[in-house]
Amino acid sequence: MSTRVLTGIKPTGMPHIGNLLGMYRPALAMQSEAECYFFVASYHALTTLRDPALLRQQTIDVAANWLALGLDPSRSVIWAQHDVPEVTELAWILACITSKGMMDKAHAYKDAVAKGRDVNIGLYTYPILMAADILAFDSHLVPVGKDQKQHVEMARDMAQRFNHLFGETLVTPEPQIRDDVATVPGLDGQKMSKSYDNTIEIFLPAKKLRKKIMGIVTDSKGVEDPKDPDTCNVFGLYKLFATPEQQAELAAQYRAGGLGYGHAKQALFEVVDAQIGEARDRYDHLMAHPDEVRAVLEKGASSARTTARATLDRVRSACGL
Ligand code: TRP
Repeated sequence: MSTRVLTGIKPTGMPHIGNLLGMYRPALAMQSEAECYFFVASYHALTTLRDPALLRQQTIDVAANWLALGLDPSRSVIWAQHDVPEVTELAWILACITSKGMMDKAHAYKDAVAKGRDVNIGLYTYPILMAADILAFDSHLVPVGKDQKQHVEMARDMAQRFNHLFGETLVTPEPQIRDDVATVPGLDGQKMSKSYDNTIEIFLPAKKLRKKIMGIVTDSKGVEDPKDPDTCNVFGLYKLFATPEQQAELAAQYRAGGLGYGHAKQALFEVVDAQIGEARDRYDHLMAHPDEVRAVLEKGASSARTTARATLDRVRSACGL
């Protein structure tokens, strides 16, 4: 059996350059070497989202992001989590072998408590549903950000515990943490992140994208002053998109003086736009034709259900159901 890679994305808004470089590109690159399972984590979103129209809209949006950026549905499987109810069945079975003490340690829940937020039981048992997502599909590798590592480790624990109690049934997954990707600077130079409100969304219309890029914070050196590319946020982003030749050329212009930040920003806009222009056209098309996206999700769900059903049959029989 080839390696199976699985990851889920919560349906919350447009991806930004940080997501593109840190998550989408590395995950999509795996399509050539592994069996990829990517899904929209709609059930997880329900732990916080209370707006039905928004949930529906964002579910389509996340799927459109994947498809526009290069997910190939003839090779990989994409679906919406709630179209594969086997996952909630497995979540119950896993809940019955998981100690409350383990859930007490989960970051998502602890953070919500620390912030004084209302904690529902869905949020509290979030890692069990996530473990079910992973284990229902016999996943080997789970690419996630650092913040999700603990959840994948909990899924490992649950698989091992089930296997220990009922015999070898579930595949033990490995988290794949991408710490090799460079930190992507945001508009203000801090790490690009929604929580810092410094993101550049990739599917903005070209004009708005340019406007966002023009808003990147720089120092106040004048046009004629020589500038340091290595401490500049604009150059920091440029490096992530430009060829080595383009980088060397712009760096030389920085050091020589006579280059205003407006020009550097225009150069950045051009390399970014050149790389995402086609994906943006595909995204715009899909958002204007949501039925095409729905059709892909339905087909994916049917294939995902077949896989999950087979795992559930093994699980049920192992534990005596
Ligand atoms: N919890 C993940 C997040 O917030 C989303 C997610 C749900 C997920 N189920 C998953 C990720 C299974 C990987 C595997 O980003």
